[in-house]
Amino acid sequence: MEQPVQNRSAEPFRLVVLVSGGGTNLQAIIDAIEDGAIQNAKIACVISNNPEAYALERAKKHGIKACCIRPADFSEREAYDAALLSALQEETPDLIVLAGFLVIVPKIIIHAFEGRIINIHPSLIPSFCGKGYWGLHVHEAALARGVKVSGATVHVVDEGTDTGPILLQKAVEVREDDTPESLQRRIMEEAEWKLLPQAIRMFVETEGKA
Ligand code: GRF
Repeated sequence: MEQPVQNRSAEPFRLVVLVSGGGTNLQAIIDAIEDGAIQNAKIACVISNNPEAYALERAKKHGIKACCIRPADFSEREAYDAALLSALQEETPDLIVLAGFLVIVPKIIIHAFEGRIINIHPSLIPSFCGKGYWGLHVHEAALARGVKVSGATVHVVDEGTDTGPILLQKAVEVREDDTPESLQRRIMEEAEWKLLPQAIRMFVETEGKA
């Protein structure tokens, strides 16, 4: 059953950010809220599948509620899925943001928050996306193909992998001497860290809360 979008125009737009790693995309969202680039929104909670994720430290440094829900702590995958769903429902999010989240989002969560989950992918979808294309693998494939331009994409999450409607894209030049690491860094700096806050601002403004 789809969760109703709460009509709380007086209250800030509630974000829940799902993370797995370093949290540089989470940091971009935190910075955009703190410097006013995103108005009338708050990160209600950061949830990681990985207790070692530095993203959790970033949240704590900014006084943002952070928790870890680990698949390995559940005997069945369905139990993990249910635990993640109820943790999300508890936060009554207006938007769920996957910021480097490496767990496949369970269908029960996709259905509960239909159209209100977005993801940042470090390529120009439909290139270099789908199963197996995550982290540095994306950039290794782009360099192996010899593309002259890559970039990042923000899309709505559906039941597929990187297949939902595209919201924003930004192209980034590929340089002759790029390594997967240098290309990843440039795409994060020049595309991801700009697109994700921009996409969130679009949602806040559309929901009439800005
Ligand atoms: C990076 O590879 C980024 O391109 C992708 O997720 C990974 C981790 O990003 N979106 P972050 O530093 O944890 O935000």
